[in-house]
Amino acid sequence: MRKIIFTAILCITFFACANESKNEKNQQSTPANSTLAIDGKNLFQANCASCHHPTKPMTGPALKGVLARVPNKQWIYDFVHNSTKVIASGDEYALNVFKNNGGVVMTNFPNLSNEEIDAILNYCEE
Ligand code: HEC
Repeated sequence: MRKIIFTAILCITFFACANESKNEKNQQSTPANSTLAIDGKNLFQANCASCHHPTKPMTGPALKGVLARVPNKQWIYDFVHNSTKVIASGDEYALNVFKNNGGVVMTNFPNLSNEEIDAILNYCEE
């Protein structure tokens, strides 16, 4: 009788432990940092590639190294969310880049988060 109880306890302990390690694995497969999960390449291709190439000028300028030329990172977020608004505000850099690209109006992307824009820029730097 004792042997049976002992075996039963052993079995329960074993399954409890096995289950726990399974749970841990499940948690690890969901990335804690959502930035890592954003696919910059995919976003770039879906939203920007019709007008931009990372290294070649197209309808819009090549995006590689863009951070070094623009006034600051916030400027990029604002411009991607609503370029017309930035140009209309009289921002000198925006007016110039608009003029130098034949006055083509860039599409507005109000729904892209700053993190998604970061992921797109990171992809363009690769
Ligand atoms: C319809 C074409 C078009 C699409 C689509 C487009 N852009 Fe643009 N983009 C332009 C043009 C043209 C310019 C130059 C400024 C202007 O004319 O307004 C520009 C300028 C920029 C600039 C400033 C470049 C510099 O040299 O200072 C950034 C940054 C930028 N785009 C990012 C993006 C991102 C990110 C996406 C995708 C989410 C995107 N653009 C989608 C046409 C486009």
